[in-house]
Order: sequence, then structure tokens, then C-alpha cells
Amino acid sequence: MRSFVLRGGRLTEGQKRALAELWPRFGIEEAGGVLDFRQLFGNSGAVVLDIGFGNGESTWQVACDRPDENYLGVEVHRPGVGHLLLKIEEHRLGNIRIACADAVEFLRLRVADGSLGGARLYFPDPWPKKRHHKRRIVQPGFVSLLGDKLAPGGVLHMATDWSPYAEHMLTVMTSCNSFENLSLSGDYCPRPPWRAVTRYENRGRKLGHEVYDLIFRKRG
Ligand SMILES: C[S@@+](CC[C@H](N)C(=O)[O-])C[C@H]1O[C@@H](n2cnc3c(N)ncnc32)[C@H](O)[C@@H]1O
Repeated sequence: MRSFVLRGGRLTEGQKRALAELWPRFGIEEAGGVLDFRQLFGNSGAVVLDIGFGNGESTWQVACDRPDENYLGVEVHRPGVGHLLLKIEEHRLGNIRIACADAVEFLRLRVADGSLGGARLYFPDPWPKKRHHKRRIVQPGFVSLLGDKLAPGGVLHMATDWSPYAEHMLTVMTSCNSFENLSLSGDYCPRPPWRAVTRYENRGRKLGHEVYDLIFRKRG
């Protein structure tokens, strides 16, 4: 069961150019063996996975702020991929690589166990209707897969503005033994100031939605 339905959406001329010219340098093909991160990024810094980055607003901003960390963005929406490639060019970022793929399959096939320094899942599609809940990306199997791919001590950071999804995330995470909750109150955390506020988040806030950050650490 996929967590997305591919949206249409035209590529702008800039995005088309970015996909043609920048993809060969910053893009990762969906198929292939397990990635060698050291070779991919040209250094041995920590690699943080950004799942479903949308337009990549939070990805490029944090990559600018933290040049010592490497960011691996996975998104199925091609215009979003094109947009992030343009940001890489504009800000001359050497620490982002992008896959245009289903993050679940990508994780399973191309990411080595214990290799990720962190993972981000910001504002995943909430699939609010009950009959669609099975499409939500946060499920016990997915969380367990992420647990396998994170190095001990690696942090999984999720955020959502949909309170029933936040509760679901909390339930799934709490029942996964690989993780411990870093919330002092045992549930949600305040938004860390470095997490950029994206269009999706702003839209939710305008609708009066509260935003929930969940931050869990992979046990050693
Ligand atoms: C609501 S948007 C949030 C975008 C961004 N993280 C933000 O905070 O602005 C969710 C994104 O996840 C992407 N997505 C959903 N399931 C995915 C999957 N299995 N693999 C890759 N991307 C996925 C969608 O295409 C969409 O762009």
C-alpha cells in the first residue's frame, strides 16, 4: 500500500532545466544496490534522511545551516525534486543528494542497516478518512524499518498538524522498542528553532491546527 498518489503538476522551465542539468550530479537513481554514503557525499559526515520533502524548504535551509551534515532527500513529486535542485544551485549546496522514489522501497533496498545519523518526516500526508488510514506512512513496519536503518543514537524527528495522526504516530512509536521518546512530558516536543516552517505548516496553522513535533532516539 503506497502512502502517496502521484499528483500531476507541471514542471516549470527552471525545474526542467534543473532536472536535466543538475540531476546527474545530485540525483540518485531509484534502482541499484546499497549506497556507499562516503562515496556519495565525498565525506564521512552523518547522513540525515528527509522523507517526502515536498518542495524541500526545510531540507535546503537546514543543509545551509549545517554544512557538516549530509542530507538525503526522497520525494516522489518531480516538481518538488526540481525545486530542491534549484535551491541546491542557488545556495551552492554540496551536502544534499536526492532520490525521486518511494521512500519505503528506497530505504529497504538502497540504505544500509545502521547507516543513518537521523531521519525527518515532516507533515506526511495525513490521510484523514478512516478508510484511507492504511495509506499513512507511519505504520509499525515502517517504523521498524527506520529503526533498522538508523545508527544507535540516531534521531527520528516527525511533525504533523493533524492531531489524530499525531496520536497515531505516538502510539506506533511508543510501541516500537527500538526507540525512546525524547519528550520531557512523554508525548510531544516543542518545535526546535532550526526546523523551518514550511508552506504546509503555515496552511495548517491558518486553519487553526496545532503542530506536533515527535522526536525519538534509536536505542543503542
Ligand atoms: C504534505 S507533503 C509535506 C512536504 C514537506 N515535508 C513539508 O513539510 O513541507 C507530503 C509529501 O510527502 C510525499 N510522499 C508521500 N509518500 C511518500 C513516499 N512513500 N515516498 C516519497 N515521498 C512521499 C508527497 O509527495 C508529498 O510531497
